Amino acid sequence: WKTLDDVALAGKTVLVRVDINVPMEDGRVTDATRIEKIVPTVEDIIARGGKVVLLAHFDRPKGKVVPEMSLSHVAPALQAALGRKVVFGADSVGEAAAAAIAAAAPGDVVLLENTRFHPGEEKNDPALAQGMAALGDVYVNDAFSAAHRAHASTAAIAGLLPTAAGRLMEAELRALEAALGHPVRPVVAVVGGAKVSTKLDLLGNLVTKVDHLVIGGGMANTFLVAQGVEVGKSLAERDMADTARDILGKARDAGCTIHLPVDVVVAREFKAGAAHETVPVAACPADAMILDAGPATVAALVGVFEASRTLIWNGPLGAFEIKPFDAATNAAAQAAARLTQAGSLVSVAGGGDTVAALNAAGAAGDFTFISTAGGAFLEWMEGKDLPGVAALMG
Ligand code: 3PG
Repeated sequence: WKTLDDVALAGKTVLVRVDINVPMEDGRVTDATRIEKIVPTVEDIIARGGKVVLLAHFDRPKGKVVPEMSLSHVAPALQAALGRKVVFGADSVGEAAAAAIAAAAPGDVVLLENTRFHPGEEKNDPALAQGMAALGDVYVNDAFSAAHRAHASTAAIAGLLPTAAGRLMEAELRALEAALGHPVRPVVAVVGGAKVSTKLDLLGNLVTKVDHLVIGGGMANTFLVAQGVEVGKSLAERDMADTARDILGKARDAGCTIHLPVDVVVAREFKAGAAHETVPVAACPADAMILDAGPATVAALVGVFEASRTLIWNGPLGAFEIKPFDAATNAAAQAAARLTQAGSLVSVAGGGDTVAALNAAGAAGDFTFISTAGGAFLEWMEGKDLPGVAALMG
């Protein structure tokens, strides 16, 4: 794929697909990370004499005009992050879009309305893509986190104009390549979260790619059940036990070592501050549930991190959203951050909950790379081709 360095930008109108699908409450952006991350691409294009026109989706309006999902609500936060005037276009194609582009002075940034207001967007409709392409001279995709969608503004449009990856897309692709494409070994993956059933493809792919797979969170309970361990009232998908055994077998065949908890923190109630105790994994009381991994598990995990050179992380190790059941996630995240800063580990993490957990642990800033992607990060970890990335290959 090409980067901004490979395309002529001077005097060009550059259509930049970004992901500014940010969380909002009461009309205000509550986490501007995705907006801040596109600033380098925007500045680079402007510095080279291009006019920036942003194409983006917001939420899931399903092909209809839903006023609450207008990108006009995001424009103030964008303007603040860029420190530039943002000219809003009331449509992503046609006259309203062209008028906004024409009205923008050099150095202004044009933000077009939610691409998903058009039914053709999610259908990857060539006609809609043509309409968008007609607005500019160059197409840049900087929306890795939307690259798992084959949409008009992420896929079909790429064939219609000179195309390049933006700086954020470039950074995401390079980080993922370093973590799973051609990583320095040994590689350890941490996969947590509630359910095995939502991460089957992920686990199946990882056991063929990594040297160590640490399974945490509720999904670890399913693996424990598969091994005949009693987990009391813990969240576990008992009907997935056979599947879990298949994954364990596949891992053995591939030479991937699976790490499950050896001790656990159990409680009778799922609430913050609930009375709890740490027990060996085989000693979960029948009326209790496992809410976190214990200190011996964390110590073993840190040992695996110390022996590894690359770490890829998706999902918390325990019920991190209620204290004190965030302890294992925090301790492991802090160890990974420390090893990264010491230069012995390349650490990459992604997925909504994961980033929230690593931020809460105060560790995210010390990781090598934190992806802005949720679903796209997962699909990429599953080994799937991402249409938005494939389209960049031309
Ligand atoms: C995301 O938030 O993960 C991306 O913006 C994609 O959104 P989607 O899941 O609605 O396609």
